[in-house]
Amino acid sequence: MVTPEQLSHAAELIRAGELVAFPTETVYGLGANALDAVAVRRIFELKGRPSTSPLIVHVDSVAMAQSLVTSWPPMAAEMAGRYWPGPLTLVLPKRTIVPDEVTAGLNTVGIRMPAHPVALALIGAAGVPIAAPSANRFKQLSPATAEHVRDAFGGAVYVLDGGPSDVGIESTVVSLAGPEPLLLRPGMIAFLDMAVATARAEGAHASPGMHERHYSPRTRLVMVEGGALPAGRVAYVWWRVPANASRTVKMAVDPEQYASELYSTLHELDREGWDVIAVERPPDDAAWAGIADRLNRASR
Ligand code: TXA
Ligand code: MG
Repeated sequence: MVTPEQLSHAAELIRAGELVAFPTETVYGLGANALDAVAVRRIFELKGRPSTSPLIVHVDSVAMAQSLVTSWPPMAAEMAGRYWPGPLTLVLPKRTIVPDEVTAGLNTVGIRMPAHPVALALIGAAGVPIAAPSANRFKQLSPATAEHVRDAFGGAVYVLDGGPSDVGIESTVVSLAGPEPLLLRPGMIAFLDMAVATARAEGAHASPGMHERHYSPRTRLVMVEGGALPAGRVAYVWWRVPANASRTVKMAVDPEQYASELYSTLHELDREGWDVIAVERPPDDAAWAGIADRLNRASR
């Protein structure tokens, strides 16, 4: 899917301060050299993203992560040991080499080691950490394929095609910058066996950039219960209760599988032009928290 020539071209672009869209196991990222403030500004311009929304920095080793932070507490070692490479972002106090553009002026930086081989190879070949938000225009649906990225940006950015993202929704974000671990954004790592407090949206620890309406298709999206559908030409996304609609999509009952299909399903239904996308509410269960969070935001 990605040739060595494409990879080295992409790495050269990163080193030259250009942008590259690349696959990760969660969603596709729009990347730039995280240590180059001018390059990072290009990400915000291309996405139309407000500069108040911090970016996640992608690394290919714990050593690279440690080079960006002033402390690496035992909890960071434990979580990275368990979940990296993987869909977990750790927020830690930053060193000054990380430009303010990356962190939206915060004194912390969000870091993760992605599990996709192409992402790891790109970081390795570029030899620098790569700052990357999801490769979509601001507030729109995140890309699960290279085609979704091209639909959003056309020829404006070089895209490495590493196939469909398999986790399917964005990483879990945990802050380790305070006295205890704090969940800033739920994802598919649910910490079923670890004490992690959840940040209240209105609370002092709220994660900047967690805009209420986010991750949205253009088509209106509503959450429904028990197949109670709104009027109109409705596309119905269900996992448990079948109902009659103009179009129905049966999702997996397993949350991992469900998440991996979610954005592709929404992109497809969005292209088809229904009046409403009605999504059967997922279970109120920790394993589904990331999915429920994205659907709730999309339905606002
Ligand atoms: O899975 C993912 O995390 C994907 C892939 C590309 O890695 N990236 C992603 O980036 O979802 P983005 O920009 O769409 O979301 C980053 C979010 C921010 O909106 C913010 O909520 C949180 O991560 N974040 C990043 N740095 C932070 C910091 N220093 N403090 C608090 N929250 C931070
Ligand atoms: Mg995003």
